[in-house]
Amino acid sequence: MPAPTGYSRNQIALHWVVFVLIAQQFLFHDAIASAWDRIGEGAEMTFDPLVLAHVAGGALVLLFALWRLGLRARRGAPAPIEGSKLQVAAAKITRGGLYLLMILMPVSGSVAWFGGVQAAAEGHEVLKVVLLALVALHVVGVVYHQFVLRDDTLARMRRAGG
Ligand code: HEM
Ligand code: HEM
Repeated sequence: MPAPTGYSRNQIALHWVVFVLIAQQFLFHDAIASAWDRIGEGAEMTFDPLVLAHVAGGALVLLFALWRLGLRARRGAPAPIEGSKLQVAAAKITRGGLYLLMILMPVSGSVAWFGGVQAAAEGHEVLKVVLLALVALHVVGVVYHQFVLRDDTLARMRRAGG
């Protein structure tokens, strides 16, 4: 099957929806972090919409990551942007890492929250830093292509291609 010339509309929509979901996981993390502390102290759980948003938002990230992997496997993705072997490898590793983290974050969070496993919560906190680092690397890469190499890389995630 030849590689498509661009990402599909679904692939692009899922990329940006997941970006917004992950951003809200970080912006509103206080609610779940303090709920977790209160549970640790043996307090009663009270309903908090921001806690629900963290749990549901994280579950959606997992669902959408699996959907995206399915799309990549069935439809494929455009050929990688040209660059040195090192640059192509770095982009591939970053992408693989981002997918892995979009799975491991919700899994570790769920094991902590639903299973009451403290070690999973600690893992969740470590993975959060790894995810942030990978997103930073990813964005630096895109900005470098867009504004230094001026190859309009951003258009790949804006306009669908067949
Ligand atoms: C992509 C998905 C997710 C992201 C990016 C994410 C991100 C975060 C962040 C930034 C924190 C704050 C950690 C801190 O205070 O330093 C946190 C805490 C927490 N999250 Fe998530 N989360 C995700 C999914 C989930 C899911 C699906 C659940 C549960 C079903 C969950 C349960 C928790 C719990 C229990 C804590 C408190 C842990 C602690 O403070 O030690 N997370 N998460
Ligand atoms: C939570 C943050 C983000 C995550 C998890 C993420 C994840 C990904 C992944 C996994 C891909 C590979 C394509 C795919 O399979 O869908 C990708 C591609 C891309 N992303 Fe992101 N992304 C994030 C934020 C951003 C931001 C903020 C920008 C813009 C500054 C951006 C711009 C792009 C572009 C232009 C591509 C296409 C690059 C190419 O085809 O090589 N992403 N992103």
